[in-house]
Amino acid sequence: MPQWLNDAVFYEIYPQSFYDTNGDGIGDINGIIQKLDYVKGLGCNAIWLNPIYDSPFMDAGYDVRNYKQVAPRYGTNDDLENLFNEAHKKGIKILLDLVPGHTSDTHPWFQEAKKAEKNEYSNRYVFTNSAWEAPPQYRLMCGICERDGNYLVNFFSSQPALNYGFYDITHPDWQLPSNHPDCLATAEAMKDVMRFWLDKGADGFRVDMADSLVKNDEEKIATAKIWRGVREMLDREYPEAAMVAEWCHPERAINNAGFHMDFYLDHAGNGYNLLFRCGSWGDEAVFNPNGRGNVKAFADEYLASYELTKDNGYISFMTNNHDMPRPTAYLDKQAIKLVNAFIFTMPGVPFLYYGDEIGMKYQKDLVSKEGGFHRTGSRTPMQWSSGKNLGFSESDTPYLPTDASADAPTVENQQNAPDSIYRTVTDVIALRHRYDDLKGNGDFELFYEEGSIPFAYKRGKLVMFFNPLGREIEMNTEYSGRIVYEIGKSEFSDGKVKMSAQSFAMIEI
Ligand code: NOJ
Repeated sequence: MPQWLNDAVFYEIYPQSFYDTNGDGIGDINGIIQKLDYVKGLGCNAIWLNPIYDSPFMDAGYDVRNYKQVAPRYGTNDDLENLFNEAHKKGIKILLDLVPGHTSDTHPWFQEAKKAEKNEYSNRYVFTNSAWEAPPQYRLMCGICERDGNYLVNFFSSQPALNYGFYDITHPDWQLPSNHPDCLATAEAMKDVMRFWLDKGADGFRVDMADSLVKNDEEKIATAKIWRGVREMLDREYPEAAMVAEWCHPERAINNAGFHMDFYLDHAGNGYNLLFRCGSWGDEAVFNPNGRGNVKAFADEYLASYELTKDNGYISFMTNNHDMPRPTAYLDKQAIKLVNAFIFTMPGVPFLYYGDEIGMKYQKDLVSKEGGFHRTGSRTPMQWSSGKNLGFSESDTPYLPTDASADAPTVENQQNAPDSIYRTVTDVIALRHRYDDLKGNGDFELFYEEGSIPFAYKRGKLVMFFNPLGREIEMNTEYSGRIVYEIGKSEFSDGKVKMSAQSFAMIEI
């Protein structure tokens, strides 16, 4: 297990929207290099970079045309290597986004696979045996290539699924077992991509749709086996490299598949959703001040996963990512401060999505860009200053419009505002680095009164108290001590804590 993960705080950068240095309206790698000190100033010591590979951008780069080539709009392979080097000088690690489940339909492998003549890549993707065979349980593209067969897609129509085989074989005429040499070759090709970037200085990967590899693999047994093989390769050849799964099933991702981390993110009904998003636009979320949330439901779900996985890897809380509406769509400013106090004091390895630290707004009504659809509103340019395009770019045609509202938050105006989300985010991240008790995993005890929202948790000598409600409350507690940090006001006396509306307190006992 790479030791650095114990104190890692990640910053997710969506490269097209971060910082444009060449005036073409699209963020670039040099822009990220120029902003490394900013990232460091947040307290983040690791970056997850969304795909930067050559792509036709039908899905914002999750449709890869060449895994080993940086998209010209972001720069060159040398620029990326330069980013690794500059980041490392500042103590920042960089994870690239690995997209192992599918490629773009413009990828050379697919161009070969869809040819009528059999060739080396015929089995790299999943084709049925005839253009007339299209079992409805599969997402297939039908009758659109010279090869007599239909092919499976993983996500959008432009993203044919790579062939890692099938676990339950229902159509033996075209489904290969996952140990077929051609399926093993797909996994080897992906390891080759990983080695290529690790050799250039990447520190690991965020793995897109990590659970999607082997089809008809209900329990993900064969899929996990592939990842265990990848983990063995990393342990042997790159022991400092880390992988975080987009799996959202920590027992499977961490314990079975060998991922170092798994995202705890928005899957209908899970604990993440219960905390931050559920109901109609968050009106049943724990952090909504209306008190309709349910701490117990979160606790039941999370604690079970935490106990089972804490010795093997980390559950990663995130402020948001590029696939979901920003927190500002669900919660008010005070609630968002509490959410950040929560995310950065919980066990695991936390992730901050670019722009969330200044409370960027979800831009609801934008026309979809590069397959974003509703996600487009969370992918708008980073807001740096009051300058042109809020400091993102000198171009007259930026990648997406910037927030046009008069009160658009920017790094410039938030850094200087004592009451800003930025202040809370940087404060709580600094506390995480300062106290060993707040890092990584460890003992974790959660307290809540049945059916009531105020809750607290203890990590070592620190106890964190949360009152997300829009009114003052009193909560019983056996703990008291020095208040290390607070949002709002808390008073401890006689086995109770009185907390003002929407408040947080961290005490050292
Ligand atoms: C999950 C990624 O986060 C998302 O942005 C992408 O569209 C799909 N996987 C498909 O690769």
